[in-house]
Amino acid sequence: MSNLRGKHIVLGISGGIAAYKSVMLLRLLVKAGAEVQVVITPNGKEFITPVTLSALSGKPVVSEFFTANTGEWHSHVDLGLWADLMIIAPATASTIGKMANGIADNMLITTYLSAKEQVMVAPAMDLDMWRHPSTQRNIETLKRDGVIIVEPEAGELASGLVGKGRMEEPEGIVKAAEAYFAKTASLTGKRVMVTAGPTFENIDPVRFIGNYSSGKMGFAIAEEFASRGAEVLLIAGPVSMEVKGEGIKRINVVSAREMYEAAVSNFDGMDYVVLAAAVADYAPETVSESKIKREGTDEMVLKLVKNPDIAATLGSMKTTQKIIGFALETDHELENALHKLKKKNLDWIVLNSLRDPEAGFMKDTNKITIVSDTGMELEFPAKRKTEVAKDIADVVAGK
Ligand code: C5P
Repeated sequence: MSNLRGKHIVLGISGGIAAYKSVMLLRLLVKAGAEVQVVITPNGKEFITPVTLSALSGKPVVSEFFTANTGEWHSHVDLGLWADLMIIAPATASTIGKMANGIADNMLITTYLSAKEQVMVAPAMDLDMWRHPSTQRNIETLKRDGVIIVEPEAGELASGLVGKGRMEEPEGIVKAAEAYFAKTASLTGKRVMVTAGPTFENIDPVRFIGNYSSGKMGFAIAEEFASRGAEVLLIAGPVSMEVKGEGIKRINVVSAREMYEAAVSNFDGMDYVVLAAAVADYAPETVSESKIKREGTDEMVLKLVKNPDIAATLGSMKTTQKIIGFALETDHELENALHKLKKKNLDWIVLNSLRDPEAGFMKDTNKITIVSDTGMELEFPAKRKTEVAKDIADVVAGK
């Protein structure tokens, strides 16, 4: 039985000759048990009639923002929320360009911008249009934004030319959709613990030692594992971010000591443990119960004591768990990361490149190299943290 059964799919059709193949794609999706809502661009309707599409999908085709005679408003937001997957096939160079730049002048693009779940694009165009730097740049943008590209095939094109640009066959697009949903269920039954954010070490009731960690990387990892069906425990330092997605339990902590206790007491039974938190290495030896006064003191010495190393402790407790640590190094990056991995008995270490302008604290992007306990290195280009989370999950838990 296909895993598309019961899935809500928005099928977006733009105006290219390959739109004739979308009829077969729609038929196959419906046959596989999916509920399909078609959204077509004004140009798309020049190639294929909405009557065929509504007959096959069993739903009125959406194209305009509202129905002219009744004034009924079609909500792209509702559609975007409804969809478990949006497939845009064919996606013309124009539609790809609008998607990459957020030019929301038709219902298909507004729905794309409102889509909460995965979007998949099957480009179709002439070979010159496909290889034009502008198209390639837009495709790269879409990839960075997390869109799955179902690569066009090489072959005879409608123009009579031969080359790359022919839309993937409907069967191939259905396979890509099935592969996507298989991945979303690939970690069902697995338990994952993620530490994220900074820790704050109190000096007195109003002051602390902290760091600039935003928690974005750890939160993206928690969400990515959960989206693949895992049961996730997120141990979050003090950040104001909300975590999205089902299957995530969150424990909020403030200090390294609290994070340590939460991590150690929940370690048993975990399959994967990802330590993305920026844990303070030292904490004040004593915490003043009342606010420290400025009067009468020109100098102040704060004595700090070492915090427990969560990663090393879990590494020493490890039985079957796979532990993934993070490292931020300024020099001899790979050598130091591998040394850290061995010392803490980790399985993988994710090296953040501090030198890269697209990596680091507070940013939405990161550039990583994943190092395994055998010394294997996988280097990735700078990507959004949500995409980096996918690469990490792919590597440590399998695609
Ligand atoms: O030794 P270093 O702090 O560079 O190691 C970084 C890795 O160790 C990260 O995965 C971080 O979350 C973890 N760590 C920890 N407990 C500490 C310090 C770091 O778990 N006290």
